[in-house]
Amino acid sequence: MNIQKPANITWHDGAVTREQREGILGQKGVLLWFTGLSGSGKSTVANSVAKILHLQGRLTYLLDGDNVRHGLNKDLGFSLADRKENIRRIGEVAKLFVDAGMITLACFISPLAEERKNLRDLLGADFIEIYVDCDLAVCETRDPKKLYQKARAGQIKDFTGITSPYEPPLDAEIHLHTANFTVEQCTSQVLEFLTKKFAVI
Ligand code: ADX
Repeated sequence: MNIQKPANITWHDGAVTREQREGILGQKGVLLWFTGLSGSGKSTVANSVAKILHLQGRLTYLLDGDNVRHGLNKDLGFSLADRKENIRRIGEVAKLFVDAGMITLACFISPLAEERKNLRDLLGADFIEIYVDCDLAVCETRDPKKLYQKARAGQIKDFTGITSPYEPPLDAEIHLHTANFTVEQCTSQVLEFLTKKFAVI
C-alpha cells in the first residue's frame, strides 16, 4: 500500500493534554506489544496481565490480532505486505489509546523486525516489546485452532513459521519463555518490569 504524506493538513493540539488525562486516571499510558508465533501464548499472557491490572484499578485495553482482523483490518490477509499494513494501522490505533492514557496491550504475531522497529520509532519510550518465545514444535503441539495442522496439509498458505517467516526480536524489553514457565510466572515477569519502570502505572 502506498501511503502518501498528508498535504494541506495541520496538526491541532487538544485543549486537554495527555498528562491531564493521565492525571485523572492515575496511571501512565503505555503500549505492551506482545510478539510471537501463533500459539505461543501472546493472548493468554496478555489477558492475564490485563486482568490483574484491572483488579488493581488500572484502565486497560487489549487489541488482539484475530479480533482486529474481524473489523478494522478485515480487508487484509497474510501476505507480508498485508501484515505490514496490519501492524502499521494497529500501531497508529495503539498510539491513540496510549495518548488517551490507557495501558494498551497488543497481541500480534508481527513477524518482521522492520515493522516492530517502525512501532518503536512511532511510540518511542511508550513502546514495550514483549517477546513471547516458544519453539515452533511446541506451538504446533498446542495448535489450539488447528491452524498448523491445516498449514502442514497445504490448506493455509503463508503461515507463520511454516511458509512465512518469523524474525525473533533481539532487543525486546521483556523475553518470556512460555514453554518453560507458567502463565502466572510470565504474568509476574511482565508486572515486575512495569513496577520497576514506572513509579505510577
Ligand atoms: S500478523 O502477522 O499480521 O501480525 P495477526 O497477529 O494479525 O498476524 O493474526 C494472526 C492470527 O491469525 C493467528 O493467531 C491465527 O489465528 C490467524 N491466522 C490465519 N491465517 C494465518 C496465517 N497464514 N499466518 C499466521 N496466522 C494466521
